[in-house]
Amino acid sequence: MLSQSQLLQLFKETRKDSESICSYLETEDYVVQPIVDVSPPKWHLGHTTWFFEEFVLKKFAKNHKLFDENTAFVFNSYYESVGEKVVRTDRGNLSRPTVAWIYKFRDYVTKAIIELLENETLSTEALEVLEIGCHHEKQHQELLYTDIKYILGNNPLMPGYNQQFEENPIQNFEREWINISEGVYEIGHTSDDFSYDNELGAHKTYLQEYTISNKLVTNAEYLEFVQAGGYQDVLLWHAEAWDWVNTNNISTPFYWHKIDNVWHQYTLKGLVKLDPDAPVTHISYYEAFAYAQWKGMRLPTEQEWEIAQKDFEWGSRWEWTESSYAPYPDYQKADGALGEYNGKFMVNQKVLRGASVATSSKHSRYTYRNFFHPQLRWQFTGFRLVK
Ligand SMILES: [Fe+2]
Repeated sequence: MLSQSQLLQLFKETRKDSESICSYLETEDYVVQPIVDVSPPKWHLGHTTWFFEEFVLKKFAKNHKLFDENTAFVFNSYYESVGEKVVRTDRGNLSRPTVAWIYKFRDYVTKAIIELLENETLSTEALEVLEIGCHHEKQHQELLYTDIKYILGNNPLMPGYNQQFEENPIQNFEREWINISEGVYEIGHTSDDFSYDNELGAHKTYLQEYTISNKLVTNAEYLEFVQAGGYQDVLLWHAEAWDWVNTNNISTPFYWHKIDNVWHQYTLKGLVKLDPDAPVTHISYYEAFAYAQWKGMRLPTEQEWEIAQKDFEWGSRWEWTESSYAPYPDYQKADGALGEYNGKFMVNQKVLRGASVATSSKHSRYTYRNFFHPQLRWQFTGFRLVK
């Protein structure tokens, strides 16, 4: 657990990072919500601020005066026990509060938290919630990148976001297959460093012998599947995946465009030629599964991923696993509203492991359990194979 002064440092840099991410935006970019999963950037800035005011200042700061009585209604995401809120699909319909207002709200809450950390000796409970607040904001920083990418990348002009943002690191090494022998292994978070409740409860797990790739599947490899008619072969797909492919006319990963017979990809730098050596990204679990079927292989389970990860590089793509998002045997959710953070999402979702090019600093660890519905692909998702 971090000391109060370390936490102060983490808090300051986290708040600043969100604002740097948004510094490349025009005011209009902050407001739109093109699909339900993509929130307006201004909403992320307000929501992460609301989190600190609701869960830290209201509870642990004496005489804290709310910046505004209505912020909870606008910026509460899914904490049903905290009260009424704007329905998710309406986040992009609100021209008010304005972006300028939200920056004032941020400033007000940032100063109040800094004052609290500098002048009071806080309880362990308060420090824990503050640390969750920082990691919560880091999670939203990744969403800021992916939501901004969706907003700009689905604009017909396809404007770039930032020419410095490198999202396609090349895995400059040969493919090897790492063999892991049969046995009983332990997984889960055990150190004193921060983790979410869903990683706790380290426990034993039995694994059969397996062989896992040290490399993520690349664009060139995935393109072979596209060109071989993978999207047209019903036998490779789950039933609901096949419906999804046909209903949505899916025939490539998201953000791929064929222009004058040359494959391109929209990136945060703008439209570029598809790099064959980059790891494929913006694919759904359905597509990862179908590709694995086509190769006669499979995806790793999250247990297999966690045990093998020390032997390969990871961190550029969130890696789909074959595991359903479920509680570990000793899972205990937190008391009160923060118990809504993870536990209530443990149904109908798949676990992703690793981290991505958009994951914030100090926010990755090998026990991290990310989760998304199987059809979603606006995150920097990818996969590796097991045979
Ligand atoms: Fe949130």
